[in-house]
Amino acid sequence: MTETLAAGPAPTDPAPTGPVPTGPASTGRMPRPLFHLTPRRHWMNDPNGLVHHGGLWHVYFQYNPEGSDWGHMSWGHATSPDLLHWTEHPVALRHRTGEQVFSGSVVASRVPGDETLTALYTSAYDDAHQAQSRATSIDGGYTWQRDPGNPVLDRGTSTFRDPKVVRFLDADGHARWLLVAVEAEDRQVLLYTSADLREWTYQSAFGPVGDDGLVWECPDLVRLPVDGDPEDQRWVLLLSTNPVGEDADPDGSSMSYAVGTFDGQVFTPDAEQLTRLDHGRDLYAGVTFDDAPGGQAVMLGWMSNWRYAASVPTAPWRGAMSLPRRLALRTLAGRVRLVQEPFGFVRSWLDRATPATVPGHAQPVELVSSGHLLCELRWDPAATGSLRLSLRGAADALVSVCHDVEAGELQVTRSGPDAEAVHPDFPGVCAVELSRAEPVHLLLSLDGPLLEVFVNQGEQTLSSLVPLGTGPVTLTLDTDDRGPVTLTVVDPAGELTA
Ligand code: FRU
Repeated sequence: MTETLAAGPAPTDPAPTGPVPTGPASTGRMPRPLFHLTPRRHWMNDPNGLVHHGGLWHVYFQYNPEGSDWGHMSWGHATSPDLLHWTEHPVALRHRTGEQVFSGSVVASRVPGDETLTALYTSAYDDAHQAQSRATSIDGGYTWQRDPGNPVLDRGTSTFRDPKVVRFLDADGHARWLLVAVEAEDRQVLLYTSADLREWTYQSAFGPVGDDGLVWECPDLVRLPVDGDPEDQRWVLLLSTNPVGEDADPDGSSMSYAVGTFDGQVFTPDAEQLTRLDHGRDLYAGVTFDDAPGGQAVMLGWMSNWRYAASVPTAPWRGAMSLPRRLALRTLAGRVRLVQEPFGFVRSWLDRATPATVPGHAQPVELVSSGHLLCELRWDPAATGSLRLSLRGAADALVSVCHDVEAGELQVTRSGPDAEAVHPDFPGVCAVELSRAEPVHLLLSLDGPLLEVFVNQGEQTLSSLVPLGTGPVTLTLDTDDRGPVTLTVVDPAGELTA
């Protein structure tokens, strides 16, 4: 049996409000997103086994088939032709007595006539032992056969997990497989290579570097050209880090990256430190698709934070994926930086919409939305001064996105009683540097509780859960000075029914 999500609500959910707010509004509970992947019911965390195969985007995900809290970890499964309309399928890899199925990846064979998909995932045994196991699918990813020799990669340790398999060419030009996995508590990424996806040869380790008091999770290694130059390729290590222990950082989990080189054995970063990948509170475990069309690096992340994931007020589902993001490397102020832009439908929706230019300051611009909207803004801080976007829904909470020219920052704030009610560490301000010297381009995606802000063509991103309640959301724009702001607004409900 398959269940159609169609980027819309499950039948057990209240209907989403359309562009004209009509339905009853409620505080507290967060509504289901319209254009992001959520499970029909129950708990979801990390994206797993992202692969483009047979014309479909397959997403497996950490899933509890038995409830809305973390546990009984298994791989859920959904497919989409366009990363917008999703069909949820039966559980792909189910937990068994004594063994949970933790995060991992899937790769497609590129051998003509061979349709096999291979999954590498972590077997998390009840005796606290973690090792990597293998499964294959010959029906396009719907049913899986576990390898009788599992686990296929075992160090006898207890936090060895999250294998991500990546293709590369060795020094002789032979196609090889690289597996990166973490020793989470050692803050190390271990690299293994293979010719057959079963026998793995240890090559090297990266780390520990950066802060301690963290576990490292969900690595990925992605090859990307710098500034689109095919002659200048680098490897980017993506990493998720989660503070642990009694004095754990209350900001909780986040993603970082390092740009470097990979010689077939060793990953060498260009700089010693890791760089933060997203400056919001809610982007974790992001990894890229295998075999995406055109060799593009398309990432999905889980939009939550281990600090409070268990108390996010949604039902009958809990957990959502981010927008799909295309990763690229761009030289900015002399440094090679990872940039992220929405991939796919977001750009085409915006390109169909008509921009409007509004004068700043004269009087705040108010926009009533269904709680789901895309908004692109362009302005010149030299003419507008500070700019504020406030978001208010039925909940007793205020969310704002503000360019404070004095501070030289773009700040995303979530505050108010309904933010505090989620978790004591939920309210707060996230910020990125943003100069007043250059015109600004900002893309804001709000899909119920999911707020994603892309600054200057993805140079910075801030992804956060927002507690606006169900029902309509009013967006208010105002600036300190008179300079104009160009606005493009899309109502996704209109796009989805078009
Ligand atoms: C990351 C993570 C992984 C692990 C999975 C368990 O969010 O902790 O390290 O495989 O979640 O659900």
